[in-house]
Amino acid sequence: MASASDPVGVFDSGIGGLSVLQEIRRLLPAEDLCYVADAAYMPYGEKPKALVRERALKIARFLVDEQHCKAIVVACNTATGIAVDLLRKQLDVPVIAIEPAIKPASELTKTGVVGVMATPGTLSGEKFGELHSRFSRDTKIISQPCPGLAKAIESGKLNSIRLRKLLTRFIKPLVDQNADVIVLGCTHYPFVRPLIRELAGQDVRIIDSGEAVARQLQRKLAASGLENGSGQEGHERFWCSSEPGACRGSIAPFWTRDVCTMALPA
Ligand code: DGL
Repeated sequence: MASASDPVGVFDSGIGGLSVLQEIRRLLPAEDLCYVADAAYMPYGEKPKALVRERALKIARFLVDEQHCKAIVVACNTATGIAVDLLRKQLDVPVIAIEPAIKPASELTKTGVVGVMATPGTLSGEKFGELHSRFSRDTKIISQPCPGLAKAIESGKLNSIRLRKLLTRFIKPLVDQNADVIVLGCTHYPFVRPLIRELAGQDVRIIDSGEAVARQLQRKLAASGLENGSGQEGHERFWCSSEPGACRGSIAPFWTRDVCTMALPA
């Protein structure tokens, strides 16, 4: 039986989910947070769907069964698209999952054109197909697969020429087709928002779903009486499927407090 003092589990293929974790920490300062970066298996967006499904279930089980998490946040659009139905079926805790912010984008656009940057795995998934067809009656939604981008961000070289070239290649077709809203449909991408803004131009709105997920988590916890009301500052713990020292080096630049990473059990 879950209790309000139990932690919340959050996972992604790597550092991307930290963009969601930051929003959760801002909104829910008292919650203890367990974060798994499945760095040995990233990029999920360019891996077979069966493997992503298997990894997502294994990590969620670790968080629930071994860390006693009271809720799971899938901080990875690719894993949501591929595995969220399975996780909801298999786990008996609430599963909150991120998805590309197409709904708010379709309300914001003035040109009627929205660009979605995401991994090939997200854009080729059934879930994204459903989301796309739900909003494409009144809005032109351009899907832009971004192979290589999450991996380039994960490497931490956010000012590299290679990254700029990649982003230029992905953003130009969206701007050329008059998109005035760009949806960041991968949790790694908010970390290069300034560069995306520079390349897309100041008139283009750039949105992601991190804050919406944190709010959804808050609602779910409150609805099940599981919000931590201790008034004390929560802690974070990090696990990684690759070498923990290297993983710590990847996470630390994106997290304001001390980071100690542990090896995810095989
Ligand atoms: N950050 C993830 C997402 O939101 C996955 C990136 C990847 O591993 O391909 O899709």
